[in-house]
Amino acid sequence: MAAEMKPAADSQALVEVENVTKYFPITAGVFSRHVADVKAVDGVSFSIKSGETLGLVGESGSGKTTIGRCILRLLEPTSGAIRFDGVDITKISPKLMRAKRKEMQVIFQDPYASLNPRMTVGDIIAEPLQIHKLAKGPEVDAKVNDLLRTVGLSPYHANRYPHEFSGGQRQRIGVARALAVSPKFIVADEPVSALDVSIQAQVVNLLQDLQQQFGLTYLFIAHDLSVVRHISDRVAVMYVGKIMELSDRDALYERPLHPYTQSLLSAIPIPDPRAEARRERIILEGDIPSPVRPPSGCRFHTRCPIAYERCKVEVPELLNYGDHFVACHKVQELGGAQPSIKPGAAPIGSKSP
Ligand SMILES: Nc1ncnc2c1ncn2[C@@H]1O[C@H](COP(=O)(O)OP(=O)(O)O)[C@@H](O)[C@H]1O
Ligand code: SF4
Ligand SMILES: [Mg+2]
Repeated sequence: MAAEMKPAADSQALVEVENVTKYFPITAGVFSRHVADVKAVDGVSFSIKSGETLGLVGESGSGKTTIGRCILRLLEPTSGAIRFDGVDITKISPKLMRAKRKEMQVIFQDPYASLNPRMTVGDIIAEPLQIHKLAKGPEVDAKVNDLLRTVGLSPYHANRYPHEFSGGQRQRIGVARALAVSPKFIVADEPVSALDVSIQAQVVNLLQDLQQQFGLTYLFIAHDLSVVRHISDRVAVMYVGKIMELSDRDALYERPLHPYTQSLLSAIPIPDPRAEARRERIILEGDIPSPVRPPSGCRFHTRCPIAYERCKVEVPELLNYGDHFVACHKVQELGGAQPSIKPGAAPIGSKSP
C-alpha cells in the first residue's frame, strides 16, 4: 500500500531538496509585463545521503540542470528549501554561501565549452585553489600535479592548453578542477553525454573510483537511463519539472513502475538478442510538452499509452511503495504493482481509432 511519505527529510542526508520550484518569468512589451512563467522545476523533493549517488534522468527540457543549479545556488529557487548538511542554503548570507560553495562543485556536460581555451591546464586547476586560498607558491604546483595524477593525467600536462586534449581528457581536467577544493558533493551534469560511447565508461569509472577514495556524494544527471545504471545507488526520473519515480537502482531497472520510466527503459538496446524479444519497445509519440503550460493532471497524460480520464484532471502524488516512490494513478490503483503497457497503445486525445 502507498504511504504519503516524502522522499526527503532524512537524518543521514547530505542534501535535502524539499518542495522546490523554479519559475523563470516571461515578460513582454516595452514595460516588460510579466505574462507567464517557464515552470522548469515544479515541486520537487528528494534527498541524497552522504556517500551516495543519486542518478537524475529525463528527456532534455525536463528541469534536471535547473534543479542541479538550484542546489548549488547558482540559481535562486522560487520557493522551497534546500538543506546542505542540515543548513537551508536558500536562507544564508552570500558570505556564508561562499564558504559552503567550496563543499559543492559541478562538472559540466561540455568539456569543450567549460574550460577557458586561453589558460593552461595547470592554471585552470589552480584557479579554485587560489580563489579559496587553499594553497600558495610551490604548494599550488604540487597540488596541481597531485590532482592531474588523481584523474589519470600526468604532471607534464599542466603546461598544455585544453585544445591539445581529447574530449575524455578534457573531462578529466574538469574533474580535477572540481576536486581541487576537496568538495563533499558534486553535481555531475551530463558529464559524459558529449563523449564517445567508448570513452563514457572510462569517465564514469573514474568518478566512481574518486567517490570511493574521497567519500564523495554525487547528483549524476543524464538523459538516458543506461548511463546512470552503473554508478547510481538510487535513480530519480523527472518529466516536465516533476519527479515521476524515485527508486533504488535495482528496483527501478528490474521493475520500473511508472509508464514514463518503462518507456525510457524500453528505449535502451539490450546486447543479448534473445533478451530483445522479451522486451517490447514503447515508442513515445511527440515531444516533451512545454513547461510554460504543462498538461493538466498528470503531466505525462498526453503521451502515456495507458492514460485514462482521471489522469487529465488529477495531479498524481509521489507515493511510497516500499523501494519505489511513484506518481501515477494507475500504479496507485494497482496497489504498487507494475501497470502493463501494450506497445503501440494510443494515448487519450490522439486521433487514431
Ligand atoms: N534561464 C532560463 N530562462 C528561461 N527558461 C529556462 C532557463 N533555463 C532553463 N529554462 C527552461 O527550463 C526548462 C528546463 O530546462 P533544463 O533545466 O535545462 O532541463 P534539462 O537539463 O532537463 O534539459 C526548459 O524548458 C528550458 O528551456
Ligand atoms: S497518472 Fe495516468 S497518465 Fe500519468 S503515468 Fe499514470 S496512467 Fe499515465
Ligand atoms: Mg540539462
